[in-house]
Amino acid sequence: MKFASAVLPLLAFVSSVAAQASHIGVPPPGTQISPGQSLDVSIVKYNGLQGSTEVGLVLSLQYCNPAPCPDPVNQLGFILYTGKWTQDGFKNGQMWDNITVTIPDFDFTTAPARLVETRFHLIGAGPAANLETNTLDLQMVVN
Ligand SMILES: *[C@@H]1O[C@H](CO)[C@@H](O)[C@H](O)[C@H]1NC(C)=O
Repeated sequence: MKFASAVLPLLAFVSSVAAQASHIGVPPPGTQISPGQSLDVSIVKYNGLQGSTEVGLVLSLQYCNPAPCPDPVNQLGFILYTGKWTQDGFKNGQMWDNITVTIPDFDFTTAPARLVETRFHLIGAGPAANLETNTLDLQMVVN
């Protein structure tokens, strides 16, 4: 019984974190990008039962040449945006923040790339601090 009492609060914590998770809704995986272009990004959250307090949001770009892409927690790459998730729209239980970023005009060659979303938010009554990392594979194309 000691086991159960130790595990249950942990499971409750894990599920509340999942309920507050966000993801990169736009662009779709595999989108081709080029140096200097602008890119529309949408960070989507679900309308959870438990509120969360947004603290910070970072969008960054990993250029993965040589492959594979580095660990997104330890190496964010080119910082495209820093700010805070703020709601731009709401539909069917989904909320989004749409942000337009600019791909750096750097001397890239055609190679895999990756968009990294790093979001810091507070959850629950504690509250608990949660740092979330989501990634989306892109393709850098240079003609
Ligand atoms: C914002 O992103 C959502 C998808 O997450 C999309 O449905 C909506 O059209 C976008 N709005 C604008 C103004 O780009």
